[in-house]
Amino acid sequence: MKILLDENQVREGVSRLAREVTAQYGEAPLTLVGVMTGSLVLVADLIRQLSMPLRVGVVQASSYSQGTERGPLSIDTGMVIDLAGRDVLLVDDIFDTGHTLEKIVHALEQHGPNSVRSAVLLSKEGRAETSVRPDFSAFPIPDAFVVGYGLDYRDEYRNLPYIAVLEESDLGEGA
Ligand code: IMP
Ligand code: MG
Repeated sequence: MKILLDENQVREGVSRLAREVTAQYGEAPLTLVGVMTGSLVLVADLIRQLSMPLRVGVVQASSYSQGTERGPLSIDTGMVIDLAGRDVLLVDDIFDTGHTLEKIVHALEQHGPNSVRSAVLLSKEGRAETSVRPDFSAFPIPDAFVVGYGLDYRDEYRNLPYIAVLEESDLGEGA
């Protein structure tokens, strides 16, 4: 595994996101919705750098896949808190093709929010297949499979405090 962003770089990126989000919303109330499970660590760090009145909810996104290839995406908004009339910030770990973001933004819009914006830690360059783009993104990264700081490979590596590129030799069989 090769470290792409070390702990300090990740911390600086999260602070940058927090400053940009604060510049956007000021002290207006915000409802942050984290995409589980990948945004778990980012949400925990980001919310402690935000000082506006803040509500936090989660939405579950899962694709029926095991490895680095992803299958059909299913969105479960059953755990979402009340979004009617709220300014909503959707938070995910990484923007890749954009299908996840597009689908979740659409699902949240059904709940009558005042606005929906999105923030991600990482954006893979040149991979977008949809017209949606994250409003806030801390780092553009090359097209590689990354793990750590919430991001997983087969549900492992989420606990790494840095972002690493998973190499061929790290991939288990069937990937
Ligand atoms: P998209 O729908 O293609 O934009 O993919 C976004 C989702 O795929 C994220 O929420 C991640 O869960 C997952 N994903 C995309 N790229 C990676 C990666 O490099 N490592 C781990 N998960 C990834
Ligand atoms: Mg995810």
